[in-house]
Amino acid sequence: MKKTIPFLLLALITTSAWASTGEETYNATCVNCHAKGLAGAPQIGDKKAWGKLIKEGQINLTSDGYSGVRAMPPKGGRAELSVADFASAVVFMANQAGADWREPDDAMLKKINARIEKRASTKK
Ligand code: HEC
Repeated sequence: MKKTIPFLLLALITTSAWASTGEETYNATCVNCHAKGLAGAPQIGDKKAWGKLIKEGQINLTSDGYSGVRAMPPKGGRAELSVADFASAVVFMANQAGADWREPDDAMLKKINARIEKRASTKK
């Protein structure tokens, strides 16, 4: 019984270190549709589907996804999801399909936010 405690602790530490990483957000939210390609969602690891999206560029793809695209709900359907966490999940999925994207820095997040705001103000 005692032997299981270090393992439990390790599991806790590992889980908290992952909190809010792209992979964690993917597994908590995006996986529901993107694991199997539900409703036409680009499937995780599908290089063909993601290849086209990756070409749109990180700023465009992240802001469009966050705002919602056709059957893709805004924020992946999680109202409390921050732009930064959403962006990390996009990085995770794009990299699973061969991209070499990094976590957006402050300058990139600013541009992503600007595009999201622009879309929100023109959308009806
Ligand atoms: C309810 C299902 C669903 C969930 C949950 C979901 N997606 Fe999607 N997603 C879709 C669908 C469907 C599309 C394809 C939309 C289209 O092109 O018609 C899509 C497309 C996208 C795209 C491409 C957008 C573009 O510009 O074409 C990105 C990026 C994306 N999702 C990211 C995410 C991230 C990140 C999450 C988790 C935070 C997430 N999605 C959660 C259904 C979902």
